Amino acid sequence: MNRNFRLRPAPGLDEEVTAGGKKLIDRRDFVRHSFNSAAGVITTACLGSIGFASLLMGSASGDGGDNAVRYWVPKGQEDTVWFGALHLESMTKSSFVAQAAKSDTGMAGAQGVWSGLPVNVIHIPNSSNQGTPIAEGKPRTQFMEGYDSTGKYIGWGGEVNEDATLAPLAMHDDLIIIFSRCPHLCCIPGWQLVANDFTSDSWLPGGVDSGGNKLFCICHSSRFDPTVVEKNSNRNRNTGTQFDFIGIKRTGGPAPVGMPLIPFEMNGDTIEAKSDFADWYTYCD
Ligand code: FES
Repeated sequence: MNRNFRLRPAPGLDEEVTAGGKKLIDRRDFVRHSFNSAAGVITTACLGSIGFASLLMGSASGDGGDNAVRYWVPKGQEDTVWFGALHLESMTKSSFVAQAAKSDTGMAGAQGVWSGLPVNVIHIPNSSNQGTPIAEGKPRTQFMEGYDSTGKYIGWGGEVNEDATLAPLAMHDDLIIIFSRCPHLCCIPGWQLVANDFTSDSWLPGGVDSGGNKLFCICHSSRFDPTVVEKNSNRNRNTGTQFDFIGIKRTGGPAPVGMPLIPFEMNGDTIEAKSDFADWYTYCD
């Protein structure tokens, strides 16, 4: 069941990945955020605030280049995943729409990288299913109430439509971007990279653990529902700083909470992420 989906390294340790003459990431950057699935050892080297800031600074030009979210093809899956030929190409909405049209649920997802950070981008057919009865096989974004690992109520995902400070996270374009470090031990969950009931192309409403189309963390089998947006709370492992975030719901496994969203905007057909909530993405640093 467990295929090799170790993230594909760049050709050389110090070799930079560039676009438009600007550095995106190098292997050293990405390895800090990746893990060795073969050994089951997680690479948890600390970036620290300076390291993290430097990654984000690389995305701040706003020229449609370095803000782009790019496909990241897991090693050995070039012929398996639908984006296998698109490694480090900019993600486009039209590619997700085309892939979603081939699925039973109208959903499609892909592993990606933005400014050195691992992400998953998921197409959810909100516009197609809007106004139809909520039912099995008809995915849509659901705003739900979030509870932390102790059962304490944190907040409601619908705050993105009520709190002006969260406005960058308002749903649009039938897409969401998820910062993909597992809140358990910081592995990188993927979209349909392993085949099981949690990752099948099916959907049930209500944010239940069954029903398919979950992001699945191969390390210890945590599951996350990308169609459920909630408010929750996490803490930075190094500093202990607690913070609230808007993210997707953890539905099962040892992860204590879900994973945060990343706001984005469209530049034509190109998906570009924004760094409004950078402090949400540091819990593994
Ligand atoms: S690191 Fe994801 S389940 Fe343990």
